[in-house]
Amino acid sequence: MGIWTALFGQRVAQVSVEPAGVSFAVERGQSILEAALAQGIAFPHSCTVGTCGSCKCRLKSGKIREITNFAYVLSAEELRSNVVLACQAAAKTDVVLEVPGFESKRLHPAGDYTARIVKRVALTHDIQQVTLEFDRPMAFDGGQYVQLATDAVFGARAYSFASPPPPEGARQVELYVRRVPEGQLTELLFAGHLDNVTLHAHGPAGNFWLRESRAPMICIAGGSGLAPLLSMLDAAAARNVGRNCVLLFGARTQADLYAQERITALAARWNGGFSYVPVLSAAEDDAEWQGARGLVTAQVAAAAAALMTHDTEAYLCGPPPMIDAALPVLTELGVAPNNIHFDKFLDASHGLSRQELG
Ligand code: FES
Repeated sequence: MGIWTALFGQRVAQVSVEPAGVSFAVERGQSILEAALAQGIAFPHSCTVGTCGSCKCRLKSGKIREITNFAYVLSAEELRSNVVLACQAAAKTDVVLEVPGFESKRLHPAGDYTARIVKRVALTHDIQQVTLEFDRPMAFDGGQYVQLATDAVFGARAYSFASPPPPEGARQVELYVRRVPEGQLTELLFAGHLDNVTLHAHGPAGNFWLRESRAPMICIAGGSGLAPLLSMLDAAAARNVGRNCVLLFGARTQADLYAQERITALAARWNGGFSYVPVLSAAEDDAEWQGARGLVTAQVAAAAAALMTHDTEAYLCGPPPMIDAALPVLTELGVAPNNIHFDKFLDASHGLSRQELG
């Protein structure tokens, strides 16, 4: 009948995803995306706050309520075609959605946790390895992130897991956190004011995980974007995934390269071809540096040409300019758009979303 029905005192609506044939319940007060992630459904998303457009889908039937105005993100043409943002839509009746890029993988259900920072280690002048302890184990996929909030700062910040996911979930996880100049949360964190303070954590979240395939992989990281890629690759190495892989890491100077021993250990146990290409963009005065120089995206074609097949995949994580520059390079090389997966670390100019916000 398409109306709210009572279930254990909660009124729920049903969301059906086409053409996948997946359906799930939405509780009153939840967005459609929140409901999907809480039930482990891999609904496409990134920011979760209505700024990135990753959760766009088309309303085929039923009624929704806009939590925030879609017109900030969607074009007039999209609005006319019943395109909606799942993270900013509440279901008023049962609804049917057409969701581009929907994958039927089951994710670990997202939930609310408390957490505290139990250790911090400086990796570079502006990146720290932060050990976070949850009140109970959180299960996640390598590549995903957790949202952290403290009563001292408005809004949540998203931090990718740097440590690989144990199958049974982890009570302690590691994050690579970059200090954002004037970023409220990272200023507190780097000053030690959040050590052993109770934090609110929600997760796991994010659509960035290793797809099941035997195809070669091109991985490109910038800044603290190394975290989700290393989590993903360490997990793959533990499963003996035997894919050929190149990892490019863009940094400014040698002092900004970190996790180098971890990458060496990963390469040594990787069950396939593995090459690592660090690229420095500000090494003009560094006569000792024998490696690649310039923008990391300028090195992709040379580093990855040997890995090109019709189904080669690319995984990118880092700041938006790096990802925006890499996408045409990858498509020019012949990587199919459907095989390019990325996690953009947006900043304050892009809205409250990923960890570079601070
Ligand atoms: S706009 Fe919905 S996930 Fe970003």
